[in-house]
Amino acid sequence: MIPPTLPAPHLVFVGLMATGKSTVGRRIAHKLSWEFLDTDDEINRLTGRTVRQIFETDGEDFFRQVEHDVLTTACRLTTPHVIAGAGGIILRADNRQLLKNSRFVIWLNAPLHVLVERIGQRAVKGDGHRPLIDGNPAERLQKLYLERESLYREVSSIEIDVEGLQIQDVIDKVLIETGLETKS
Ligand code: S3P
Repeated sequence: MIPPTLPAPHLVFVGLMATGKSTVGRRIAHKLSWEFLDTDDEINRLTGRTVRQIFETDGEDFFRQVEHDVLTTACRLTTPHVIAGAGGIILRADNRQLLKNSRFVIWLNAPLHVLVERIGQRAVKGDGHRPLIDGNPAERLQKLYLERESLYREVSSIEIDVEGLQIQDVIDKVLIETGLETKS
């Protein structure tokens, strides 16, 4: 375990659903030869249940507790990881504190219409792991954005607007802005 005064040596992505956290994170981890951890996947692995199943059977509060436990464990890892934090990871104050103590926190941001286009019809029908936007993704995402914008800003040191960018453009920006490109 690392002493609490040392930052966790991780690069963490935060942001709303469909901003590309997992895709970008996984590719950057590969490029840097770091481990990759996606908090939703980890929850799935640990509980043997999907995000949707947990929401439906135990409710959001239980999900947020498991999410917190996963983030806490991840932040104690001493080898550098790229972590894709799920959209709501910034909701708890204790999570925000953990995030602020990580080496880099990157907020992937995008105008709502971009996210709605990306999510599209999947959410109207009930997208796999996103029960919070079932039915009316545009309206629900807007509500989430308004509730969370200041929290993403609070924890992040770098903000990247992904509108109009290809995955590779986002990766390049992350590597330049963190200064990690020269060390890879
Ligand atoms: C959530 C985001 C989802 C998933 C769950 C709740 C949120 O993850 O954890 O549906 O509260 O924003 P992604 O951000 O990976 O879609």
